[in-house]
Amino acid sequence: MSSIDKKDDSDRTFRDGITAYYDTRSVTYDEEPNQLHPKLAADLIRFAIPHLPPAPHSLLDLACGTGLVSFEFSRQVDDPAYVHGLDVSKKSIEIANDKARKFKVNANKTTSATPEIVFEYGSANTDGIPSSVKPKSFSLITCCSAFVLLENSTNPDRVKLLNYWKQYLQPGGIITFDVPAQCQVIHRTVSTIAKKYGLKTIDMSWISKEALETMCVDAGLEVVQVKEVDKEYTNEKVYATKDDMTPLEDAFERFMKMPFFPNAKAMNLGRYEEMKKEFLNAMEQFRESDGRIVERYRFLIQIYRKPL
Ligand SMILES: C[S@@+](CC[C@H](N)C(=O)[O-])C[C@H]1O[C@@H](n2cnc3c(N)ncnc32)[C@H](O)[C@@H]1O
Repeated sequence: MSSIDKKDDSDRTFRDGITAYYDTRSVTYDEEPNQLHPKLAADLIRFAIPHLPPAPHSLLDLACGTGLVSFEFSRQVDDPAYVHGLDVSKKSIEIANDKARKFKVNANKTTSATPEIVFEYGSANTDGIPSSVKPKSFSLITCCSAFVLLENSTNPDRVKLLNYWKQYLQPGGIITFDVPAQCQVIHRTVSTIAKKYGLKTIDMSWISKEALETMCVDAGLEVVQVKEVDKEYTNEKVYATKDDMTPLEDAFERFMKMPFFPNAKAMNLGRYEEMKKEFLNAMEQFRESDGRIVERYRFLIQIYRKPL
């Protein structure tokens, strides 16, 4: 039985919410106006390339979505040999497979090198990777924009999760993934407060450069890079000023409707309002000298190596 099937009810609600959300979002995902995900996928591969072990190059793309990272790998890496993408959103996998067919047709026209590409339904969580994915075979594992969404990314399972992924790397192979940087203050604060109010949610409170490095060293990996990329992946958004806190209240309401906070709807209204108030108070610590509270979309991009 895989970890997809053996979770309890609250895990299942959380996971089903995420799957339904990405099934719907996948249809327009590649064309979203801010282009955050295509840009991040391209950077993740660009940063990894200098650290890849010698060819042939193969990629295990965990939580691959519509395949943005897989296709960046196929385009940017010289002589890519094999790509295997996994995701729990069946609709995303369908779209990724359609894109793979078109990618191969175009590559044949230009005679560019094209890897064998497989996209398949499967979970990145511990024991979720299907048996079609062979251990010790990959030069690169990616998990772009998804690590904090994984049930097993919460303590104490994170080290176990990295250890589990590690078995799929060849010696000298690398893992790269991103997590939201600490300057994503709304995302981070809303998660911390929601957790305090007993909501099952993604946990971002543990994230720091040091915690990431420790996690990977504990999983027997060597740190190649843990770096906050000095780049905004969307235009800076001002969420609140001293005179107008409504954008922050709206952001809170928007978050609470997302599948990352599945049991918010069932909360008693008084307690919900109390949680919102606590969130707004907590956000005060991030008010900048010009009076604004700003969310900046920066990411910590990490690269870790499996020792030879
Ligand atoms: C923000 S998207 C990122 C997709 C892709 N990696 C990219 O960079 O465009 C997050 C993806 O994580 C997937 N996901 C969430 N939990 C997962 C899990 N346990 N196993 C595999 N995929 C998962 C979602 O279905 C979704 O496609």
